[in-house]
Amino acid sequence: MHQKVIILDFGGQYAHLIASRIRREQVLAEIHQPDEVNLAFFQNKNIKGIILSGGPQSVYDEGSASCDTAIFNLGIPVLGICYGHQFLNQALGGKVVAGHTSGKEFGRADLTHDDQCPLFKDIPKTSPFWMSHGDEVEIMGQGFEGCADTDLCKNAAAWHPTKNLFGIQFHPEVTHSEHGIQLLKNFLNICEVSRDWTIEKFYEEHQAKLKAEVGDRSVVLFVSGGVDSTVAFALLSKVLGPERVQGLFVDNGLLRQGERTYVEKAIKAIGAKLTVMDEADRFIGNLKGVYDPEKKREIIGNTFIEVQKDFFAHHDLDENTVLAQGTIYPDTIETGGTKNADTIKTHHNRVPEIQKMIDAGLVIEPLADLYKDEVRALGELMGLPNELVWRHPFPGPGLGVRILCAEETIEDIPERDANAFNLQRNKKPFDVLPLKSVGVQGDFRTYKHPGLITVSENNLSALESLATKLINHYPDINRCVKSLGHNYTGRVDSTKVLKSDVNDERVARLQRADHIVTTTMHDMGVYNDVWQFPVVLAPLSFNNVGEESIILRPIDSIDAMSATVGKLPWAFFEKVTAEILKDESISAVFLDVTSKPPGTIEWE
Ligand code: XMP
Repeated sequence: MHQKVIILDFGGQYAHLIASRIRREQVLAEIHQPDEVNLAFFQNKNIKGIILSGGPQSVYDEGSASCDTAIFNLGIPVLGICYGHQFLNQALGGKVVAGHTSGKEFGRADLTHDDQCPLFKDIPKTSPFWMSHGDEVEIMGQGFEGCADTDLCKNAAAWHPTKNLFGIQFHPEVTHSEHGIQLLKNFLNICEVSRDWTIEKFYEEHQAKLKAEVGDRSVVLFVSGGVDSTVAFALLSKVLGPERVQGLFVDNGLLRQGERTYVEKAIKAIGAKLTVMDEADRFIGNLKGVYDPEKKREIIGNTFIEVQKDFFAHHDLDENTVLAQGTIYPDTIETGGTKNADTIKTHHNRVPEIQKMIDAGLVIEPLADLYKDEVRALGELMGLPNELVWRHPFPGPGLGVRILCAEETIEDIPERDANAFNLQRNKKPFDVLPLKSVGVQGDFRTYKHPGLITVSENNLSALESLATKLINHYPDINRCVKSLGHNYTGRVDSTKVLKSDVNDERVARLQRADHIVTTTMHDMGVYNDVWQFPVVLAPLSFNNVGEESIILRPIDSIDAMSATVGKLPWAFFEKVTAEILKDESISAVFLDVTSKPPGTIEWE
């Protein structure tokens, strides 16, 4: 059994980030909920280190997240981060108070350590670390010694030399903390944990485990064309033999142009068996007359479940067959953050029907221990083509979240719609588009108008900063776009929103534009320069020329949690705009220049 480090997730946003950083040091890291961890939990688990994550609460609040503090006496090194630091000190009799009078500390802070604590080995005496806290440790726990401060935060790091307990107020896991990785490495050295978690080892060990888990049964697996389900499928076909693995691909009518053929070919090349289920009419039929973005999501999700149920009704999943899923590690962990959040997003691999099957032992998830970068490494190790392993992510609800709908036609906007957006239009130094899209501001999902920037600037960083400033200043917009070109002539004297739902004609229209963007990225060799590139269709027409508009949304990101605008060359945008506008049904093309937050990646 691998030695490991466990991370107790107190609800902060970075628990997965800590785990993936530790794994990159070739140490197995697992996330657990604090309330499930007590002394008994440690038996026969080979746990060599404990990390307490950050969290949104105050340790002195009633009912705030906690764990059995007896685990601090096990002799296993503990590293408390932010909330974890405060929790650890409080547990040993210290005192935590609301932060420094000058306010809370967010962002870069210069930390100076005293050269004594082994956590700071090989780290410059003063260096920048990332802070994000409101509370601080005023009095350290018994036996703790302070070993680093910032200007605003005393006891920014403390250690208990005899018990090997460490607490730090800052976040070593974020990339802005220049020496954060070194600090985590130092902690792993203190833990004396073996560095043996590699994808090669996983592949080697996992084959026998998978074989034992599946036994004599055969496997069915729904593939999406995305990297996770394809790697899961390839792994199963390799380990069990292609004759025992049945792949199913649901054509939901919301796919990219050519996607079905692409997936069929790719799966065939792997040497696996695939059946395509043509369900486009069912999905598009269920979306008829639906305009609300959340309703669209719900219908697409429910239709997937209907299709799966139909399949199981017609193909008995007896004790000789199991369902496989390409679920990856973050999808299996309901983090403290998710647990305590207002809107809980149930992952589609964990809906109640599937959960029942999981409980009955009818589901296997061969990638459930891996992060995305590890899945990709496994795909490469198995010899899957690079193009497949490095495909951009594509959302489960497909183009359904990229086709904006409108419940009614609004003909002549300047006169008609006084309250919804003209009011704002009159007060602002910029226009707004007469429809809304989803955004994320603070912990809230917003549904607001995009602002239309009309400057001639074409430097994407400058446009992105301008967008941030405007959105921070005008609370009723959540993103900004800039016009890239149009099929009408002269100035805009009429804007129209057309009543529209998701239908075959609109899907085909978006597929054409999306295809132009994807092929141009490949042709210009810039596909791998962006993380993802949604193309959005909006029922907006200007001067009665064309029926709809296209919005381009190039994205730079690592994990989709936050994102900036993908900085492709301006010539790329000129080229695709000219191509897209050859379609006379397109009135205008816009470029979204908003980071996430405040915008989301998808427009919905
Ligand atoms: P947002 O729009 O929330 O998107 O910034 C973050 C990332 O998630 C993808 N996405 C989805 N993926 N099922 C998926 O498999 C979904 O329902 C879904 N919704 C959004 C989106 O493409 C982006 O990469």
